[in-house]
Amino acid sequence: MEFEDRITAANINLDEEEMELSLRPKRLSEYIGQKSVTENLKIFIEAAQMRKEPLDHVLFYGPPGLGKTTLAGIIANELGVDLRITSGPAIERAGDLAAILTNLKDGDVLFIDEIHRLNRSVEEVLYSAMEDYALDIIIGKGPSARSIRLDLSKFTLIGATTRAGSLSAPLRDRFGVICKFEMYQNDELAEIIKRSGEILNVSIESDCLLELARCSRGTPRVANRLLKRVRDFSQVKGNGVIDCEITKKTLHSLGIDALGLEGLDRDILRLIIERFKGGPVGIDTIAAAIGEERITIEDVYEPYLIQAGLLHRTQKGRMVSEEAYKHLGIAQEIEG
Ligand code: ADE
Repeated sequence: MEFEDRITAANINLDEEEMELSLRPKRLSEYIGQKSVTENLKIFIEAAQMRKEPLDHVLFYGPPGLGKTTLAGIIANELGVDLRITSGPAIERAGDLAAILTNLKDGDVLFIDEIHRLNRSVEEVLYSAMEDYALDIIIGKGPSARSIRLDLSKFTLIGATTRAGSLSAPLRDRFGVICKFEMYQNDELAEIIKRSGEILNVSIESDCLLELARCSRGTPRVANRLLKRVRDFSQVKGNGVIDCEITKKTLHSLGIDALGLEGLDRDILRLIIERFKGGPVGIDTIAAAIGEERITIEDVYEPYLIQAGLLHRTQKGRMVSEEAYKHLGIAQEIEG
């Protein structure tokens, strides 16, 4: 199965975008989870508003699908300003960034997703934009080249990344607020699924909420996607109500187990157990054996396997836990 087709993949495709948009909370008070992030931001937003200043630049980091874009939208909403969304790979040249920056108004929020993928020359333009609200542009070539400074509106940059460690120090240092996104607890995911069910007008029996939450890999995007699939099954195979039977049938048909793992997650664990005696084994070896890119394994598969206590990262490589053996029903060989 292609990575993009996995139900638990935390990336997003276009036909889902509309549903995601309708399910996204618009205000801080509607946002579930990430309590320490939202409580701090509430204060920073209020303080900036009292001073009539733009909010300081904010960096969000953490695994995909945890609501970074959603929260950026909420911040713009709470500030009563416009939001411009772009991403690191979409800004190819310094001129592209200059065009975006010169179109912002005072107080506006610019959201750059995957900010760690900005190229060097673009990143350098961002430094003076963030620090001095100015663009230094070089015109001409050779001895006649000169630099002119262009003033910008006082904007707020919200950068998002799945890998804070890949950000250069000068860029990271220019963010006044740095927020780490944690995976969601099951009770928070259950609340998100309940809220989404109400918006989509589907009734979900309360015992299924936690079951769906447990299979959502700590990720609202996965939770909402699962809800949509269970809704399909309940419509076609049931009476439109999401009950435990329909939930179980859907999860089984999609190959999702009780912890929310899919084929590839289990393949990773099984590989480490069967070929490397449970580890430690290097990430590059795992990537080559599984046929996925290292970065995909690190950013998408591993965070949940680690959170679920099935996998550990050690100095010498990846190791599976006793729970992984139990979960896969494989007897653990004790060496001695
Ligand atoms: N939908 C997606 N993420 C959400 C969140 N954190 N709170 C409420 N609804 C959401």
